[in-house]
Amino acid sequence: MYPFIRNRRLRTSESIRRLVRETIVTPDDFLVPLFVVEGKGIKEEIPSMPNYFRLSLDLLEKEVKELWQMGLCAVLLFVKVDERLKDNKGTEAINPNGLMQLAIKTIKNACPEMLVMTDVALDPYSSYGHDGIVANGQILNDETAEVLAEMSISHANAGADFVAPSDMMDGRILTIREALEDEGFTNTGIMSYSAKYASAFYGPFRDALDSAPVDKVNVPKDKKTYQMDFANRYEAIRETQMDIDEGADIVMVKPGLCYLDIVRELRNQVDVPLAVYQVSGEYAMLKAAAEKGWLNHDAVMLEQLTAIKRAGANIIASYFAKDFIRVCG
Ligand code: PBG
Repeated sequence: MYPFIRNRRLRTSESIRRLVRETIVTPDDFLVPLFVVEGKGIKEEIPSMPNYFRLSLDLLEKEVKELWQMGLCAVLLFVKVDERLKDNKGTEAINPNGLMQLAIKTIKNACPEMLVMTDVALDPYSSYGHDGIVANGQILNDETAEVLAEMSISHANAGADFVAPSDMMDGRILTIREALEDEGFTNTGIMSYSAKYASAFYGPFRDALDSAPVDKVNVPKDKKTYQMDFANRYEAIRETQMDIDEGADIVMVKPGLCYLDIVRELRNQVDVPLAVYQVSGEYAMLKAAAEKGWLNHDAVMLEQLTAIKRAGANIIASYFAKDFIRVCG
């Protein structure tokens, strides 16, 4: 039969396409990751992340003001810690005058309304490059959770709005929530990296922070005993539901593009905001392909960000935030 229903009618012009478009990425969707280093006047490009930089506190202040001007309203902080300050327990992580604590204060001074989230895990502080304490070739769970809770208190004290545990220890959300409540930080939120996979896409990030697991006897060579197996889907639901039950305000899937089935699955199952982290390797892939002239950078970026949101992300942590504003802002 001749088709009376022609789906192409809704695609005949850009105007009708705009009218029926289901998913629109906006500046409000972004969480901007920022890398902070010691020093002054430092803006170092990360070799495997073209056009992405480590910033010293003075330039961090400038950057955050610029992000706010552009309409971006939330940042996620990471610090690159001097090798001399690293140890197995990540002691430097709770230094009230540590780089993270100073970064939080710097941002809150410069731009009080900017939402500040902080990464909570030991790896940038760990002499072994692990997210937890290493003992006898293993990563200690409960002892690590205690340190993460201390770290969270320290970040909250410095003014962080949300702490974001990215370590995948069991029970750490409850340990952190209890500690925050005990210390009176009832309004400090927790964004849990709830379904974080052991992924090769984190490579450039580990270059940025010099935080890869070290090659030593009795130190696990990868993070597979705590980060999830990328073959698993049901486990992501279980991990995420448990984190919500323990008190997570926002949950997360990480990485992004290879895991959009997980994103949709979780969006259908849970009723808290869901963040997706489009990670460093995803950024690096597109930058590299665009540099070679093999992909149209802006078009592919927009397609990828839209796909992440279409899959169910309410928040997108992405190194493309500023590129997105340049193209669509
Ligand atoms: C630290 C942490 C990692 C990332 C975010 N927090 C690295 C890791 O788990 O090894 C990766 C982010 C990215 O690749 O962009 N726990």
